[in-house]
Amino acid sequence: MAQDINYGWKQNEIAHHDLIAQEYDETTMKSYSFFDPIIEKKIDKFRKRNAKFILDCGCGTGRATLLAQNRGFSGVVSLDISFEMLKCLKAKLQRSWLGAKTYLVVGDAENLPFKNGFFDGIISLGLLHHIPSINKAINEQARTLKNNGLLIIGDLNNEISLFSWVMNALIYIFFHIIQIIFKKMHIMLYSTGVSSATERDINARDVLIELDKFHFNHSSRYFMHNYILDRYLPRYASKTIFYFLNKFNYAKKGDIFLIEAQR
Ligand SMILES: C[S@@+](CC[C@H](N)C(=O)[O-])C[C@H]1O[C@@H](n2cnc3c(N)ncnc32)[C@H](O)[C@@H]1O
Repeated sequence: MAQDINYGWKQNEIAHHDLIAQEYDETTMKSYSFFDPIIEKKIDKFRKRNAKFILDCGCGTGRATLLAQNRGFSGVVSLDISFEMLKCLKAKLQRSWLGAKTYLVVGDAENLPFKNGFFDGIISLGLLHHIPSINKAINEQARTLKNNGLLIIGDLNNEISLFSWVMNALIYIFFHIIQIIFKKMHIMLYSTGVSSATERDINARDVLIELDKFHFNHSSRYFMHNYILDRYLPRYASKTIFYFLNKFNYAKKGDIFLIEAQR
């Protein structure tokens, strides 16, 4: 078999995620936990469609897998390229076993080891910015998804328009003032952990272009990151502020985009 031209890239991804696996839940996972209720709503869509098998593609330590399991979903296949990330997920599944069946697979999202049309749904969170070719990954997701299957993709948006640049500047000034008021000097905006050398910026727009090539109908939403506000304001206050800010569905650097797609 010919060697993958992105062998080095993928080895780097494996090494990076193997290394950070143990601290992932305390850093990145925690920082994006505000997003979990939104993911749960998407998982309910799988359930409403009586989905039998869904794929958590690039599952990491199992954010979507565990949310699905907690909602009684059986038949999640969780795939990741990092064995250590899967080991963390396995330990968590063993601790919280609710009777739902989960299958763990070490594999590459660009070459999914499943037959055509196997999945009723696929969810892929934070994966695409680690992948050499978004096109290849979407191609594989389209191939392994049933006709009418539901595809959910979430990732970080890095689009910079003039509007988003101005918004970023305002938000930066706002957080800086909060920082001074609370005398906390080491606030990290958006990022909590170390990045892998091969991860890169992507935009919702890049993903939507690829989905169009595979004839998906899609809708997308952007969600602001409320990690910082959550740290300084009571939960209800930060939730209310973000509820209104999220009403403006505009793309901004550092936001999470969530795409729902179907063919
Ligand atoms: C930012 S983490 C997201 C994990 C999880 N989905 C979440 O939301 O917390 C990205 C994950 O993609 C995995 N990954 C990177 N390249 C991959 C590939 N080619 N195939 C499958 N998984 C990959 C990494 O090992 C890592 O667990």
